[in-house]
Amino acid sequence: MERPVLAPNILITGVSGFLGSNLASFLQDHFTVWGSYFQRSIEMKHCQLFPLDITEAKAVEKTLSDIKPQMVIHCAALANPEKCEQDPAEAYRINREGTKNLLSCLPLQVRFIYISTDLVSDGQKGCYTETDLPNPLNVYAKTKLEAEKLTMDWGGNYAIIRTSLMYGPSNRINASFLQWISNNLKMNKIAPLFTDQYRTMLFVLDAAEILLRMSKKKDRGLFHLGGSERINRYEFGKKFCQLFHHNQNLLQPVFMKDVICKAKRSADCSLCSQKVMKLTHYRPGDIESGLQKTMKISPYL
Ligand SMILES: NC(=O)c1ccc[n+]([C@@H]2O[C@H](COP(=O)([O-])OP(=O)(O)OC[C@H]3O[C@@H](n4cnc5c(N)ncnc54)[C@H](OP(=O)(O)O)[C@@H]3O)[C@@H](O)[C@H]2O)c1
Repeated sequence: MERPVLAPNILITGVSGFLGSNLASFLQDHFTVWGSYFQRSIEMKHCQLFPLDITEAKAVEKTLSDIKPQMVIHCAALANPEKCEQDPAEAYRINREGTKNLLSCLPLQVRFIYISTDLVSDGQKGCYTETDLPNPLNVYAKTKLEAEKLTMDWGGNYAIIRTSLMYGPSNRINASFLQWISNNLKMNKIAPLFTDQYRTMLFVLDAAEILLRMSKKKDRGLFHLGGSERINRYEFGKKFCQLFHHNQNLLQPVFMKDVICKAKRSADCSLCSQKVMKLTHYRPGDIESGLQKTMKISPYL
């Protein structure tokens, strides 16, 4: 598709990450895409890339005043729950203060989409709707919830999108848990996968389609965004092996309690996504269709 000549400016923070990189490629036909990375520079056609540390308030202010985006999709984060648990101060600095820095110099009419997580729930109930009360169990989820509150208090044209665990294509090794499974299997290594944690796993380009539609809307508030299937990582791994012809015997079913992790995990943080589907008229597909689309783009996973 040809990008319109006067395509609006969109800023994607965290463009070098798994979601940010997929999003930037997807949105380039619709917007003039500006993408900020932190420590890992990337190459991408049709995207203006630049380094930015979101914890540096002055740099953030200058960037926003130079670009004057009409929309911001804020993906940048310390998104690894184990790393957040090991260094809570750093997690708060990036996830909460970084978000605050962006919001403090953003005009209220700019569309601001904050990417949050299904892990803000304690996982006792499952099928969470936007009216269920959050109860984060680990530092990562606590910092993400605090950034949600800052976004609401900002009072501008915001949408908070809590997404489930995402999978899909990526050029980077270990960019997502799917790449991690694939690497293990290719090296003939065991891949231990939880059987007792449930998520509504989401194909990353379904997320991108919904984010595109949400970026053009003015509806404010909190929205849950998961895929159409509630599944655990082990069952997901089996579907991946079947389609990509990997050795399924290397998948090891494990309980969360058997894996030593610092960060507590929520057991069933599956999301009900009716609200965002109704608003955007888009329904994310099931795992099989998401994996098939992944295969078309990254057949060697
Ligand atoms: N992936 C999922 O399944 C999932 C599920 C639910 C929610 N989310 C949320 O979705 C968002 C994107 O996740 P992801 O998986 O794409 O994460 P990711 O692959 O770990 O990428 C994180 C991004 O944040 C950037 N970043 C880190 N510290 C920064 C700083 N101080 N200043 C500026 N940028 C910084 C990184 O830059 P460099 O790499 O260049 O250092 C990278 O581009 C996050 O907010 C995460 O909480 C993700």
